[in-house]
Amino acid sequence: MRTTAWARELGLRVPVVNAPMGGVAGGRLAAAVHAAGGLGMIGMGSAGSAAALRTELAAAGEGVGIGVVDWVLRAEPELLEQALAARPRLLSVSFGTDLSWVAAARAHGIRTATQVYSADEAKRAHDAGVDVLVARGAAGGGHGTAAPELRPLLDEVLAAVPIPVLAAGGIATAADLAAVLTAGASGAWIGTRFAACAESLLPEPGRRALIAATADDTVLTSTYDIAAGLPWPARFPSRVLRDPATDRWAGHEDDLRTDHAARVELRSRAADPATAPVDAGRGVGAITRVETAAEILGSLSATAG
Ligand SMILES: Cc1cc2nc3c(=O)[nH]c(=O)nc-3n(C[C@H](O)[C@H](O)[C@H](O)COP(=O)(O)O)c2cc1C
Repeated sequence: MRTTAWARELGLRVPVVNAPMGGVAGGRLAAAVHAAGGLGMIGMGSAGSAAALRTELAAAGEGVGIGVVDWVLRAEPELLEQALAARPRLLSVSFGTDLSWVAAARAHGIRTATQVYSADEAKRAHDAGVDVLVARGAAGGGHGTAAPELRPLLDEVLAAVPIPVLAAGGIATAADLAAVLTAGASGAWIGTRFAACAESLLPEPGRRALIAATADDTVLTSTYDIAAGLPWPARFPSRVLRDPATDRWAGHEDDLRTDHAARVELRSRAADPATAPVDAGRGVGAITRVETAAEILGSLSATAG
């Protein structure tokens, strides 16, 4: 298996990080990725809290990282305190512009990461002391920007900063992994491919939907965030599997803000695991069955160099 200096420095056998996916990447998934030689991350998303983090940390054991969302941290500062106290292998905070958490993490001797979408953001994060950047392209699952695509972004970020850069967004196969390593990435930060795995927290209907979907079944929309009244910055819609609600509202999100009844209906869809939105990137077509995290890491490494 091809590896990288960054992966060796972190003691990884495979240069792969499971993306910190709120409600999906819990302690069990992080522990399984860690045991199989990758960097396992616990994700605290929109519904993240200090209490939920404690539960997932207890399930994970030692050696995993933690990823949280900027606006959630501001709503619940205890979450950052809890994350720092856990001394994670890597701490990522994404989707914000306030990088003051970086100094706090460094003061605790904790390595830091954040997702970036342009060379300028990469330079800012580097100046703030972030250790590793995640260049996140538009094909990725969950929240992210609508542009640019991964490959031009990766080139731009690699040229802009002298620190390790991980590639994210639509990476789902060994060929995808090999391509970003060849392009100079220090590893891959992979969400969707792990979302359907045996150890994820995703409820069964979501797992089945991921297995059935193809790359053309995803859509980028703020539909469910607007319905839930969540303070996601407008530049970060979410890539989800298409469903009847996104067919109706994607592209018409502003109308939702004034349609109370529709928002109520969307909230009840989201609360039911049978109809809840499923975050997925365009790599979703590579998911054909429920695999263990170890099987996924094995297949990603198989021909990656
Ligand atoms: C189900 C799901 C949940 C996610 N939740 C989070 C999150 O809580 N925090 C975060 O920083 N990124 C989150 N992401 C985005 C990932 O960090 C990453 O950008 C993305 O998964 C990469 O693209 P891929 O899904 O095509 O591999 C999520 C992605 C998915 C698929």
